[in-house]
Amino acid sequence: MKAIAINGSPRKGGNTEILLKRVLEPIAKAGIETELVQIGGHPVRGCVACGQCREKQNRLCSNNSDIANEVITKMLAADAIILGSPTYFANVTAEMKALIDRAGYVALANGGLFKRKVGAAVAVNRRGGANNVFDAINHLFLMNQMIVPGSIYWNFGVGREKGEVEGDEEALRNMADLGETITWLLTNLKGH
Ligand SMILES: Cc1cc2nc3c(=O)[nH]c(=O)nc-3n(C[C@H](O)[C@H](O)[C@H](O)COP(=O)(O)O)c2cc1C
Repeated sequence: MKAIAINGSPRKGGNTEILLKRVLEPIAKAGIETELVQIGGHPVRGCVACGQCREKQNRLCSNNSDIANEVITKMLAADAIILGSPTYFANVTAEMKALIDRAGYVALANGGLFKRKVGAAVAVNRRGGANNVFDAINHLFLMNQMIVPGSIYWNFGVGREKGEVEGDEEALRNMADLGETITWLLTNLKGH
């Protein structure tokens, strides 16, 4: 079993990464393989609506010029997918949006490749807009027949400068709880 967390922030080691690592911690502790994948800061092109994924049905996007297919392949191999993004003008980062569109379309074009994987959204904001980030990511999960666990609050933290989210105790507890529930789901759904 494997859980991957994908960081949509271009700021490596920033607040989103801190929260994603908190989610992965209990999962790894339970002996489940984990991986943190960086997409923020990499050029990830948007979907061009070429329709090739529907025609070819080869589980890939037709655009091989960036890291999207590498990341999509990792998403397809994972049992749990955690997508994290900082809030940029009340939405996900451009890289995360491009991945959502391309991975989401590839999954749907190939008969529902994300079906019954566990999906969790993680967001960070300085002041406002994280709810929209949470929604934008969950829209991908919830129309791809994925299982979305809840936690003790919606999964976002507050912070501006790198590391500031460490001061948001409730968010840190939320992330740990989310990781525990993902672990519970993966462990209990195994073999069903
Ligand atoms: C281009 C840009 C747009 C932003 N827009 C918002 C916003 O709409 N609302 C908000 O609360 N914070 C906003 N922020 C602040 C970031 O969400 C915040 O600094 C966050 O902690 C960054 O996470 P990171 O450390 O993972 O990159 C914005 C930051 C940038 C660079």
